[in-house]
Formats: sequence, structure tokens, C-alpha cells
Amino acid sequence: MSIQMLSETIDLMSKNGQGILAADESTGTIGKRLSSIDLENSFENRRLYRNLLANTQGLGKYINGIILFEETLDQKDNKNVSIVEILRSQEIVIGIKVDKGIKEMPNFPNENITEGLDGLTNRIINYKEKGARFAKWRNVMVISKDTPSETVVHSNSEMLARYAVICQNQGIVPIIEPEILMNGSHSLQRCAEVTEIVLKELFHYLQKHKVKLEYTILKPNMVLPGQNCDDQSSTAEIAETTFEILKRSVPYSIPSICFLSGGQTPTEATERLNAINQFSDNKPWVLSFSYGRALQEPVISSWIGKEANVTKAQEALLHRAKMNSLASLGEYRIELES
Ligand code: 13P
Repeated sequence: MSIQMLSETIDLMSKNGQGILAADESTGTIGKRLSSIDLENSFENRRLYRNLLANTQGLGKYINGIILFEETLDQKDNKNVSIVEILRSQEIVIGIKVDKGIKEMPNFPNENITEGLDGLTNRIINYKEKGARFAKWRNVMVISKDTPSETVVHSNSEMLARYAVICQNQGIVPIIEPEILMNGSHSLQRCAEVTEIVLKELFHYLQKHKVKLEYTILKPNMVLPGQNCDDQSSTAEIAETTFEILKRSVPYSIPSICFLSGGQTPTEATERLNAINQFSDNKPWVLSFSYGRALQEPVISSWIGKEANVTKAQEALLHRAKMNSLASLGEYRIELES
């Protein structure tokens, strides 16, 4: 039963030309987004914003899954229809962030471990009853002279593996997100080395814990130079290096790799995804997107909390979703932005 569910969900979520909208900001993180447009981080403002996203007509053409934060599973639109129902009517599969965020790892200053395994089975059962079919867990690692440390890479990888097993046992597809931040001044090459180590370690633990890779979605960072690195690398270099590291580290049984945007501008995230997809005709996985900021930034800045701007904000979301859909096929061109 759970295998059939996993298989159906993966089929729905591994279609060429579609990606995932990450709208799972925790209450603290969405607060930062709302304060950027001078809006209070209230339950009502969060509801209005997520209602705007869900009610974007045509979104299901480009987006096959959405990651929600817990509270959105219970929210309704202005006509009292549940946001989950609205999304499902567009054939968008419902996902849920299940990790409880990052904490500093004891004995490892400036490094993080993700929490949330305690009670996870029961939470997942509950989310499933509310419509969730996939889940997300995010690790956060930082590149510096001596980080990420071996211990933190091991611990975070094993946590992801244990989370993935719990999900799959309940018929929920796990998205595994071992994010390496772009903060810092490291080179493209250093990010490549760290990404390779992290991905190899991760797949080692996923296999040790008997995670079914064919029912798992990987959500990695692209291989990028640190944002303060003097050499910012060309789109072609980024695409080539990212593809090379993935080929070396990710088993071909993974059906779909959906990148996070991680602080890239919306057009950078699109251009680079496009270049990665153009890089090779021989791709073992669907290479697509699971963007948060790169899809939502133009939406928030168009909306600025005003009812009169809702349509304009929805158009901005549809546009970015379409651009990234084209990029996932390698068919994006910068001229299409206007
Ligand atoms: P960004 O695309 O903004 O990095 O967010 C993706 C995400 O889901 C982070 O967990």
C-alpha cells in the first residue's frame, strides 16, 4: 500500500517541465519576508499571502508540488475553501516541512544540526490525514576554513536518512535537502569539493538505512562560489561543475533532483537551471527546481500586502513559474523575461 502511494506520488512529481514551489517558511522566516514589505507577521497576513499563492490560476501547469508549513494545512481562503483543496484542484501535490529547524551543534561552534525526529511518525500520520503526500527536511551546512566538519556531515546525513525512512514507511515521499549555504568567500572549486563530500556521505547513510532511492527526491544546492568570492564564475562554469558533481555523487535511481535557490536572484536561479539542463543530453534524472525565494521574491514585492495588487502578484508568480518550467527543459531565453 505505501509503495503504491510512493510510486504514484513520484510519478506525479517527476514530470519534465514542472517543478516545486517551496512555500514552507516557518513563522519566523515568513516574518522576515513580511517585514520587508512592512507587514506584521500575523496569522491573518500569513493566511492572505498563502491564499494569494494557492489561488494563482494556471499555476498547476508549471508547478506539480508545493511545500507548505504546518499552519497552512489548516488555513482557508476568503470563501472558506481550504488552501489544500484549492491546490489539489490544480493537481498540485501537497508537501509539508517536517523538520523543526536548525540548532547549533553542541561542541561544534558555528555548525548546525537539524532537529525534529522525536514524534515524527505521529506528526506525519496527522499531516497525511490533512492531505500531505510528500515531506521536506533541510540540513544547513556552512563552508569555512574548517567547516563543515566530518562529524556534522555524518550526523546531518544520518538524520536525513532516518527521516526518509519514517516518511517512506508511511507512504510519504521524502525530499532530502542537504543545503550548503552560499555565504562566505570560498571558490566554486571549494563548494564543489564540499558538495561532493556531503552528497556521497548522504547517499552512504541513505543506503545504510535502506531508504528506497527510487521514491526519494533530492533537493541540493547548485555548486556556486561564495557570495563574497571575487570570482563569481560564469553560468556555464556553474552549470558544468554542478552537473559534474551530481553525476559523480548521486545514484541514478534518484528520479528527480530539484534545486533550492538559496539566495540567488530569481533570474540567476532560472538561467543556471537552464544551463544545467542544456549541459548534457544524457541526464539520468529530471533536473528541476524547488525554489522558495527565487519564485516568491517578485510576488511579495508586487503584492506589498494590498488587495488591489493581488492579481499583479499572481501574474508575477505565474511568470516565474513558467520561466523555471522552461529552464527545466533547457528552453529558457532571457528575452522571455519581458
Ligand atoms: P530557497 O529556494 O529560498 O533557498 O528555499 C528553498 C527551501 O525550501 C529552503 O528549505
